[in-house]
Amino acid sequence: MKADAKKNGKKIEKEIEKLLGKMTLDEKVSMLHGASLFQSGGVERLGIPGVMTSDGPMGVRAEFMRDRWIPAGNNDDNVSYLPSNSALASTWNPYRAYEMGHVLGAEARGRGKDVILAPGINIKRSPLCGRNFEYMSEDPKLTATLAVPFVKGVQENDVAACVKHFAANVQETDRLMVDEEIDVRTLYEIYLPAFKAAVQEGNAYSIMGAYNKINGYHCCENKNLLDLVLRNEWGFDGTVISDWGGVHKTKEAAECSLDIEMSVFPDFDEYKLANPLKEAIKKGEISEEAVNAKVRNILRMMFRLKMIGKQKEERKAGSYNTPEHREMALRTAEESMILLKNDNRTLPLNAGKIKKLVVIGQNAAKIHSDGGGSAEIKALYEICPLMGLKTYLGGNTEIQYLKGYYVPEKPKTFDHNWQADSLDDLKDTDIGMAVRDEANENEMHRKGEEERLAQLEKEKAEIHEKNKALFAQAVEAAKNADAVIFVGGLNHDIDSEGFDRSDMELPYEQDLLIDALLNVRKDMIVTLIGGSPVEMPWRKKASAILWSYYAGMETGNAFAKIIFGDVNPSGKLAETFPEKYQDCVTAKNGQFGVWGKIKLEEGLYIGYRYFDRQHIAPAFCFGHGLSYTEFAYSGLTLKTEKGRDVKLTFTVKNTGKKIGSEIVQVYVAPIASKVDRPDKELKTYAKIELAPGKSRKVELVLKQTDFAYFDEHLHEFIANAGDYEILVGASSEDIRLRGIATLA
Ligand code: BGC
Repeated sequence: MKADAKKNGKKIEKEIEKLLGKMTLDEKVSMLHGASLFQSGGVERLGIPGVMTSDGPMGVRAEFMRDRWIPAGNNDDNVSYLPSNSALASTWNPYRAYEMGHVLGAEARGRGKDVILAPGINIKRSPLCGRNFEYMSEDPKLTATLAVPFVKGVQENDVAACVKHFAANVQETDRLMVDEEIDVRTLYEIYLPAFKAAVQEGNAYSIMGAYNKINGYHCCENKNLLDLVLRNEWGFDGTVISDWGGVHKTKEAAECSLDIEMSVFPDFDEYKLANPLKEAIKKGEISEEAVNAKVRNILRMMFRLKMIGKQKEERKAGSYNTPEHREMALRTAEESMILLKNDNRTLPLNAGKIKKLVVIGQNAAKIHSDGGGSAEIKALYEICPLMGLKTYLGGNTEIQYLKGYYVPEKPKTFDHNWQADSLDDLKDTDIGMAVRDEANENEMHRKGEEERLAQLEKEKAEIHEKNKALFAQAVEAAKNADAVIFVGGLNHDIDSEGFDRSDMELPYEQDLLIDALLNVRKDMIVTLIGGSPVEMPWRKKASAILWSYYAGMETGNAFAKIIFGDVNPSGKLAETFPEKYQDCVTAKNGQFGVWGKIKLEEGLYIGYRYFDRQHIAPAFCFGHGLSYTEFAYSGLTLKTEKGRDVKLTFTVKNTGKKIGSEIVQVYVAPIASKVDRPDKELKTYAKIELAPGKSRKVELVLKQTDFAYFDEHLHEFIANAGDYEILVGASSEDIRLRGIATLA
C-alpha cells in the first residue's frame, strides 16, 4: 500500500513538472489568487480548473455572486445543517467526527466544491471568543483526536478539508492585525498539536492561514510557521490558502509557503499575489521559482482530488440533502447534548404524565443556522426545540409557548455584507503597514466603544421595559403546568465571527427570569443553547440543567428524545464552564490585547490547566456530563511495555437502570517533574456503551509522547524518566482511579 502510494506520488510529481513546464508566468500567477470570492484562477488552455471553495464547518454555505457578497438567490443551495464543531466535540466520539466529516465532504462535492473550509480547530483560550462555537475544545489532545477522523471523512469524497485557522486565532477583536506573543513551548504543546495531527495523521490536503500575527508576523506570511514548522518539520506538501484578506505584503507572501491568496474584494487582479507579484518578478525582486513552488503545491492537491489527470473520470460525485445525512446529524446531536445537573432525577420527564407543558424562552423557537458569520448556511430545515417537543408529544398534550424575554431584532441587510465590511477599513491602506497609528486608532476605538456602549445602554433599557410584561406572563403560566421547560441561552447575534462577547452573562435579562421562574417552579428544566460558556448565577437553585451547543438541523428532535428519556445523554464538556468570567485566565491576562498586541503570558495554563493550577473551582469542569444511569470504575492496572508505552486496564460497570454511554478520561500528572508542567493533562479517552448491570474491561495505551513536554532548547518533545500519576475519571475533577506509572 505504502509502496503504491510512493509510486503514485512519483507519477504525480512527474505530471506536475510536465504541466508546469507548459505554463507561462501569467498562467502560473493566475492560479495563486482568487478569481472570484470563492474560487481561485485556473488555466483553461491546459485543462486546469480553478479551485472551488466553500465554508464550512456546519454545512456547505449558500452561493454568492462571483464578485459581490450578495447571495446568488438560488433555490438549490439549501443543505444539511450539521452540528457545530463545539457540539461535535462534546460527543468525545472520533467516529462521529469521521461521519460528520464524511457528510460535509459529500455535501461539498455534491455542490461541486473542491475544498471545504473546515474544520475549525483553534484552541479555545477565552470563553468570550466570538467564534468558539466553530471550534472544538480548550484541550489540544481532544481536538486532535477529533480533527483527524473529521479530515479523513471529508477527503474520502475527493474534496479537500481546509483546516483552519493556522494558528492560534484565539480572538476576533482586531483579528486582522493583532500580534500574539506566544512562547515556543506553548505553541508546540497547546496551539499546534491538533494542526500537526490533522496534517500527519489526517493527511489534510489544505490548511488555511489565520488572520492574526504570531510573534510579529502575519500567519499567512509567517516563514517560521509555514516553512519551518508546517513544511519542514511536519512534511506538509498540500496547499496553504490564506484566510480571506489575510495576505498583506507581496514579497513576504510570495517568499513563504503560502500558495493561494483569497480575499473579500472584487479587484482580483490587484491582489498581492496577482499583478503586484508579476511586476515584482519582472523587476527581478522575486524569483519565479517562488511561484513554481506554489503552483506545484496547488497541482498536487488537484491530482489528489482527481480534479485533473487520468483519474478525473473516477472522481466521486458526492450528494447533498440525503436522508442518511440527516440521520447522522440526528445521531451526533443526540450525543452532543450535555446534562450538567440533574438533582432528584428531575429528568427525564414522563411524557405520559404531562397534560400541560409550558415552554418558555426564545431559543425554543429560534433558527440558528443562518447566522454566525462565514459559518452561516441555508439549512434544508431546522427543527427547533419547540417543534421537537410538539412532534414528540403530539396533539393530546397542551403545549403553551411563551417568549419569556425580549430579543431586539437584528434584520439582515444585503446592501452591506459584514465579511467585506470587516476588512473595508484596510482597503485603501497598505495593510502591511509596519507602524500603526496608535494615537489615531485609540481615538477611533474610544469613539467606537462610546457609540457601542451607548447603543447597548439603549438596547438594555428597551429590553428591560419590554421584559416586564413578558416576565409576568411567564411566571404566571409556569405556575399552572404539569411541567415547565425553559429554553434560553445565546444566539448568533452574540456568538459570531467578527467580534467577541463583552461578558459571559446570559443576555436579555435571562438570569432574572430564570431566577423568578425557579422561585415558583423548583422543578423547572433549564435548558440552554449556545456556542460558549455562560455564567449561571441561579445554578444552585435549579434541579436540572441541560446544555446544547448549536446542534444542527435535528436539534429539536434530539432535544425531545433526551428530555423524555428515549435517548440517554452522553455528551461531556470539551471546555471548562467557569463560575464567573473573573475566574478566567483572560480576565487576568487580557482578552484582546492593547491595540494590536497581546502577550499570552499564561503560557500553557488555559482551560482546566489554569483552573487546576489556581485551585479555582469552575461551575462545571472540563469533561463533566451526567447520564440517566451511573457508572462504577474498578481495578486499574498499569503495565509498561514496548519501550516506554504504558498499558492501562480497568473495568467500567453500568450500575444504573438504563443503557448508557460513559466517556472515560485518562489524565497524566507528572510527579516531582523538574520542569514546570500542568498539574494534569488529558492524554486518552474512550466512549463506552453499556447495558444496565453490564461491565467492560477497558484497555488503553499511553504512548511515550503522552508523557512528554516540549523542550525549547533541544527543540523536541522529551519524556523524562520518573513517576507519573495516572488519573482515570468521569471528568477532569471526578477522578475514580489512580495509579503510578514509572518511565525508565
Ligand atoms: C473567515 C474564514 C472563512 C472565510 C471565507 C473569513 O472571514 O475567517 O473562516 O472561511 O472568511 O468565508
